[in-house]
Amino acid sequence: RNLLKASAIAGAYASGMTFLPRLTNALAAADPVTLEAYRRSAMIDGKAATEGVMSYRLGGGDVADATPPVLRARRGEPFAARFLNNLDEPSTVHWHGLRIDNAMDGVPFLTQPYVYPGDGFDYAFTPPDAGTYWYHPHCNTLEQIGRGLAGMFIVEDPDDPVFDAEVAINLRDWRLGGNSQFIEQFKARDAAKGGTFGTVRTANWQLEPSYDAPAGGLVRLRILVSDVTRIFNLKMVGADALIIALDGQPVPEHTPLDTVVISPGQRLDLVVRMPDTEGETAALEDIRPSTPKIVARLRSVGSSLKRNLGDVVPLAPNPPVEADLANAIPVPLVLSATAENAAKDSICGSLGYSFWAINKVPYPGDSADPMDPLVEMKLGKTYIFNLENVTPHAHPIHIHGMNFKVVSSSKGPVSPLVSDTYLVLPDEKVQLAVVADNPGNWVLHCHIIEHQKTGMTSYVRVV
Ligand code: C2O
Ligand code: CU
Repeated sequence: RNLLKASAIAGAYASGMTFLPRLTNALAAADPVTLEAYRRSAMIDGKAATEGVMSYRLGGGDVADATPPVLRARRGEPFAARFLNNLDEPSTVHWHGLRIDNAMDGVPFLTQPYVYPGDGFDYAFTPPDAGTYWYHPHCNTLEQIGRGLAGMFIVEDPDDPVFDAEVAINLRDWRLGGNSQFIEQFKARDAAKGGTFGTVRTANWQLEPSYDAPAGGLVRLRILVSDVTRIFNLKMVGADALIIALDGQPVPEHTPLDTVVISPGQRLDLVVRMPDTEGETAALEDIRPSTPKIVARLRSVGSSLKRNLGDVVPLAPNPPVEADLANAIPVPLVLSATAENAAKDSICGSLGYSFWAINKVPYPGDSADPMDPLVEMKLGKTYIFNLENVTPHAHPIHIHGMNFKVVSSSKGPVSPLVSDTYLVLPDEKVQLAVVADNPGNWVLHCHIIEHQKTGMTSYVRVV
């Protein structure tokens, strides 16, 4: 392990090359940051500037880089961000996948008041897990995430292996018209199916960007799907790669990457073995639906470091989910379509329709008067969420504040993955074990945002 570490550092720094294209805004974990949400124009489709883009920036003042910064913290060390809302509508920040205090979870009404335009909110927490996470608003999210508000949040562990380079990739689409401007993000008839898809596909807000990495080196690729709709089917062409983590959590065993399905809200950490020859490229492709689409490239530079994927050591482990399966309490969670048309007026981005429901109840949006929780969980007890998808669409179900362990699926054998987001396939029944170890009200919802905002959301309470 140390050998790989030392030689990797030499490889990355001795050559003086810039391998870290998305880490320029990285800060030491202890520095408090000011994270401002603001509007700007940005070049997205390569033709003309798109107006009304929403992004985050650190500190104040103009920043050339339009993309939300990659934030970094260290496991077990305090992180603090003062959020400033410079939008013209309320917002909040949710730290997706981080098991932190409920008061820091960023859900309007359930955990905190709106942050109104011109106001701020101090977020402070100590991440208990290392890995790849993200941050986004939990307010009017189809609009706010759709217009750009989504950034990666990396929690480092000092015991993690060091690679020759690291590249962070935020995958998302934009719904732009031919004039490069935003068009309607929501079509009711699509929201009642798989969701409304974007028209321009980007990685780090760029069309097919290319990143340099040392030839023959081992690159850690941190991939986030922050899109509001699209489920990706990712493949690496031109290089071998290993899956080392899913949704921030180290996988039980490193698996060679063939193709892997990553849905909205999910993350994938790969180690890619770069081609040996300078100038050769490897491509990250989305092979869904049928025509492969290159989402980003890696290009070898320098003379080969001649590394071996077999030398990759495991990531430092995160605290396990200590599920007491023998005494677990079952919680039925049926995901269904609903005919009820509860066009509730909403203050936080409900779309005015109910197409979806959990246990037959469509949630009326992030309401000032939330209904009862799905279940009240006792602190310290283990629960089995029996998710059953009776719809013909896949739903990436995300729970805030706690991790689950996958126990079983009607689709076949499962590995005991720990995660915060599970893609429930059509007709699938899946059992997720959750230890109720974090008190508070925690949202549980589909991360296809149109599904979330037309009923497929609710919350659980831990007391
Ligand atoms: Cu990515 Cu409710 O969150
Ligand atoms: Cu869904």
